[in-house]
Amino acid sequence: MENGEIIAVLPQLSDFDDLITQIAAIAKALAYRASEAGDDPERWGKSGFLVSHYGRDKYRDLAEQGRLYAIVQDNHQVVAFAAIYRPEQLPDVDDKGREFIRKTYGRVPVVKQIASERTHAGQGWARRLNDHFSHQYPDDPVFAAIVEEPRNHRSEGFHTRIGFHKCTTYRDHPDGKPRGIWRRPPSGQQGSLLPRNTK
Ligand SMILES: CC(C)(COP(=O)(O)OP(=O)(O)OC[C@H]1O[C@@H](n2cnc3c(N)ncnc32)[C@H](O)[C@@H]1OP(=O)(O)O)[C@@H](O)C(=O)NCCC(=O)NCCS
Repeated sequence: MENGEIIAVLPQLSDFDDLITQIAAIAKALAYRASEAGDDPERWGKSGFLVSHYGRDKYRDLAEQGRLYAIVQDNHQVVAFAAIYRPEQLPDVDDKGREFIRKTYGRVPVVKQIASERTHAGQGWARRLNDHFSHQYPDDPVFAAIVEEPRNHRSEGFHTRIGFHKCTTYRDHPDGKPRGIWRRPPSGQQGSLLPRNTK
């Protein structure tokens, strides 16, 4: 895990196209597909999923806006990624979830799309990414929205473990799926958290 490097995925990187391709492929593999959940949506909940995964173009847009981060290993392999929606940037016109968070909690950073490549899950990568964002805004709480129907137990467990707690439910998302709104205290106030690897 020590050989992972957190990078801002920026268009000037020589392997930019390859990074975007990898991120889109990871997102596709983690995308929630109702038709495959069958009678057991719990199966998805146990391993986690992206309810609004994006395609290459959207990840490229996020990168061009300086919002996309990844953890890569030596061979340029992406093991995890996430996007940060910065407090200083207005919500996108179609981003009703972030608009709700901004109206309710003020100008706060929101982490979206956090994901670890399946074979690298459970190795601390997503925690590192979230810590990175938290340290970028040490005085601000960090927010996340977690879909509740179907329930993403894995994401809830992960977020709880790293110090988030649920504040409320946002029920008016345009896709009809309610989102739990979760808050992590500013990094300067996280002294009461359990240290990593302490169960
Ligand atoms: C949710 C997800 C991002 C977590 O990533 P990860 O890299 O496996 O998480 P980490 O290894 O960094 O885990 C950090 C901590 O959370 C804990 N954790 C992870 N999943 C957990 C769960 N279901 N219940 C309780 N704790 C959990 C880990 O044990 C670890 O604790 P530790 O640091 O004390 O050892 C990953 O499962 C994933 O990509 N899921 C699919 C996409 C998704 O659901 N994204 C969230 C959208 S809101």
